[in-house]
Amino acid sequence: MRIGLLTGGGDCPGLNAVIRSVTKSLINLCGAEVIGIEDGFLGLIERRVRPLDWRAVGGILATGGTILGTSNSATPFAWQGQDVSPAVMAYAAELGLDGLVVIGGDGTMTIAERMGRLGLPVVGVPKTIDNDIEGTERSFGFDTAVATVTEALERVQTTGQSHGRVMIVETMGRYAGWIALEAGVAGAADIILIPEAEYDIETVAGVCRERESRQRFTVICIAEGAKPVGGTWTVDRRIETSPDPIRLGGVAHALRAQLQPHLHSEVRATVLGHVQRGGSPTPFDRVLATLYGHHAAHLVRDQQWGQMVTLQGGQLGSIPLNHVAGRNRLVTPTHPLWVCAREIGVSFGELSRP
Ligand code: F6P
Repeated sequence: MRIGLLTGGGDCPGLNAVIRSVTKSLINLCGAEVIGIEDGFLGLIERRVRPLDWRAVGGILATGGTILGTSNSATPFAWQGQDVSPAVMAYAAELGLDGLVVIGGDGTMTIAERMGRLGLPVVGVPKTIDNDIEGTERSFGFDTAVATVTEALERVQTTGQSHGRVMIVETMGRYAGWIALEAGVAGAADIILIPEAEYDIETVAGVCRERESRQRFTVICIAEGAKPVGGTWTVDRRIETSPDPIRLGGVAHALRAQLQPHLHSEVRATVLGHVQRGGSPTPFDRVLATLYGHHAAHLVRDQQWGQMVTLQGGQLGSIPLNHVAGRNRLVTPTHPLWVCAREIGVSFGELSRP
């Protein structure tokens, strides 16, 4: 059995742990030969692969990034204005691939599902720090990002306290506010602003003013995808070669400018950006990534093609890739953590309901 393995889309802590686990499990379970594809689907387009054996995946469990490299702009269906999927399929046949394990997010799963329909058997492993992949309650990398943001919130809190300032921390989270919500609760943010709830600037200013009146600093945790009522995303740049060209960033600075005229205390903003995506995965993410990789190898051994590994109710399982493609798992108003945060007094900046 010869199996290809690639990491696609933005990177994430824990990718190497999955690569290691898939490779070791496939060797042990099926005596498989594992072929590492470089830079995601770009490696299949540009014919760049290398063998992955026991030795090649040694010592990588705790390292950040991906030893295979990744690309978030390469899709065989629209590469430099052309559909190169027939050439990619021919290359996969030339390599003698019996299947492909694809570690990636929503975009990568969408491509994988299409490759599957062309006849390349695929198994998916969900990856994103945003934790917003449909069908799975935890993606590896999320726990590490939450730990990083929590530490940042604690650090700005002490300096905010010294100066009596309003401190805004911007997290990643384009469509879903999971990172801001979980880190906001763990890091004792006073206000958490997420894409799922448009924020009202007067409400946010009101919370800060009330705290100001008690000589208190305020910590605000805002997801990059959060929007003011009736407003739009804060776009940092467009990457036209990417299937999803918009890159967000800077909403913390926009909020700072909106808030400052309403307050006496100084307002400061920090954008965490890729600090959240780099570095060594937490022990939780190392374990989750290892379990995901091992489960993916089982799916391959059992010829369960077209499936993505999932975690539901704490149990590993899988769902068809076409249930994942093009969807996002958002924070719902009834989610226990959102309900809890509200009831312990965290503001989500929403207009008060009549
Ligand atoms: O989807 C994961 C993510 O980290 C988002 O939170 C963020 O908007 C995006 O990727 C950033 O991508 P890039 O690394 O291309 O700037």
